[in-house]
Amino acid sequence: MGSVTQEAQLLGNVRRVAVIGAGISGVASAAHLLRHGLDVALFERSSIAGGVWHYDPRAANEPPYPNEHPPAPSKIDASGNESLPRRDNNFGEASFDEVSVVHAPPGPCYVGLRNNVPTSLMRSTLLDWPEGTKDFVSQDHLERYIQRLAGHTGAQEKTLYDTSVESVYKTPGSPHWTVHTRTLSRHEGMGKSSFEFVERTWQFDAVVVASGHYHEPRVPNIPGLLNLKQRFPDRVMHSKRYRTPNIFQDKNVFIIGAGVSSLDIARESQITAKHIYQSSRGGKFDLPRPYCLPARSESRHEGNTDDLLDDDSPIPFEVVLEDGTRLHDVDRIVLGTGYISSYPFLGALQDPSIPLEKADDRIIITSDGCVTHNLHKDIFYTADPTLAFVGVPYHISTFSLFDFQGEVVARVFSGRATLPTETAMRREYGLRREKMSVEDSSKEFHSLWGKETEYIDEMLGWVNRDAALLGHEPMKGVDNRWRSNRAEFAKKMKEIRRWPPVAEDEKVPL
Ligand SMILES: Cc1cc2nc3c(=O)[nH]c(=O)nc-3n(C[C@H](O)[C@H](O)[C@H](O)COP(=O)(O)OP(=O)(O)OC[C@H]3O[C@@H](n4cnc5c(N)ncnc54)[C@H](O)[C@@H]3O)c2cc1C
Ligand SMILES: NC(=O)c1ccc[n+]([C@@H]2O[C@H](COP(=O)([O-])OP(=O)(O)OC[C@H]3O[C@@H](n4cnc5c(N)ncnc54)[C@H](OP(=O)(O)O)[C@@H]3O)[C@@H](O)[C@H]2O)c1
Repeated sequence: MGSVTQEAQLLGNVRRVAVIGAGISGVASAAHLLRHGLDVALFERSSIAGGVWHYDPRAANEPPYPNEHPPAPSKIDASGNESLPRRDNNFGEASFDEVSVVHAPPGPCYVGLRNNVPTSLMRSTLLDWPEGTKDFVSQDHLERYIQRLAGHTGAQEKTLYDTSVESVYKTPGSPHWTVHTRTLSRHEGMGKSSFEFVERTWQFDAVVVASGHYHEPRVPNIPGLLNLKQRFPDRVMHSKRYRTPNIFQDKNVFIIGAGVSSLDIARESQITAKHIYQSSRGGKFDLPRPYCLPARSESRHEGNTDDLLDDDSPIPFEVVLEDGTRLHDVDRIVLGTGYISSYPFLGALQDPSIPLEKADDRIIITSDGCVTHNLHKDIFYTADPTLAFVGVPYHISTFSLFDFQGEVVARVFSGRATLPTETAMRREYGLRREKMSVEDSSKEFHSLWGKETEYIDEMLGWVNRDAALLGHEPMKGVDNRWRSNRAEFAKKMKEIRRWPPVAEDEKVPL
């Protein structure tokens, strides 16, 4: 057995780890941490594992209009402690459902949601799909897969449900992370039901943030939109609230954005809606479709909105697109404008008053809500790698990659793999940031489009070099079957997306 060099840091004192979120990232991370002998507490604010893939017929409350930046952090007091964003236990007349929707907002899953990456590429190394599973399945199969993974690996027993992580911080000089949680508990008795919040404070050696990044809807500041929302709240909504196409029966629907949410809603609603308009501003990752409009959208107020409308009238607004197209007959508007990355429990490490380009070497979330700053390999917080993130990259086969990241975290936290020194991690990250300002936009910073296997192989090389040096079993990572399926899927995607995107003159106008 060899030893690590001075160029590396070995995290030798991690025993107790908090994992935030029981979606695929959190469940897979907890499973690998347990397998590597660490003590785990997995916190999940909802009552069930599955994250994005759990269907809840209730929808989250609408966000503020507009909503372009992550929410403000909790405050730090004079002694350097985060002050808990305390909420009282007086619910007034609110029902349990109203309280629980705020405590654990339902996700974006709709009835017709299916995976768009084959199941053969969406799996943990710790659990195979049942024999005969099709490539593309409905959302409940993916949800059950995550729940089976939790049961099979022991992660389920370590999960505290209905428990939201409210705050995570390290007091200067302390080796431990302090985690504040808030559990919503319901009591039944004497024919009455009541509920209360139970607050707890915990200490951990390390924290894995696996809370996902499709929670905070992005609502652009389009002229006229706020006015429209205020006057006709039920006719404008973010895609996160979409559940079934029935709500668009015989309506003209205008969907803003050309990501997968917009396309899925457009595709499903074609059965019920009278007509669907979709706008695209020609983003690099937009999916080209014949009915995509070529320019950025703009919604503008026109006409007398003080007149009350009966439910069948179109909204008395005109939608004006930058290419000059004017739509007069819109009944419903859906904002398929994506999400803001946000970790509000990180306190001062999330600061919406700091613009992206002013990010220092400490901040994690800035005003853009696109980049998760200062992470080594999109995982380890460079300033203190006992804080790790699983699930940050985009444009990947999520389950497999997040499972891979979870195992890397478990190896580093259990002392089976080293990290470069803080200086070396900062240098590498700095070079990546410099490159971003020249050729990437903030939205692309975490995209591993076409680079997923390269990312995996580079990390496998590093982890297995250390495993050999320190006398541990090598990490297998993804297998050859996954690699060949991945290559085949990438080829298909290129054809579907006709990458790079279609030229303007190839698009079919409305
Ligand atoms: C509509 C939609 C469809 C998608 N389809 C695909 C697809 O087909 N293929 C694909 O590969 N990817 C797809 N994705 C990407 C998807 O995000 C990943 O597949 C994956 O499910 C992400 O898992 P996660 O565990 O990182 O996050 P999530 O699934 O979001 O799980 C995070 C969990 O953390 C919990 N949580 C959040 N904050 C807190 C807190 N403060 N305290 C406690 N718990 C908290 C949440 O309740 C949630 O359960 C889709 C995403 C969306 C939004
Ligand atoms: N399994 C499935 O079938 C499925 C279904 C739904 C979602 N998903 C996944 O869920 C994730 C989120 O997808 P999403 O579609 O909700 O979000 P998204 O991919 O971020 O797409 C958002 C869209 O809105 C546009 N947009 C943003 N701000 C705008 C503005 N101010 N004006 C006009 N257009 C604006 C974006 O254009 P720009 O690119 O120019 O910013 C983009 O076209 C993705 O990972 C996706 O793959 C998967």
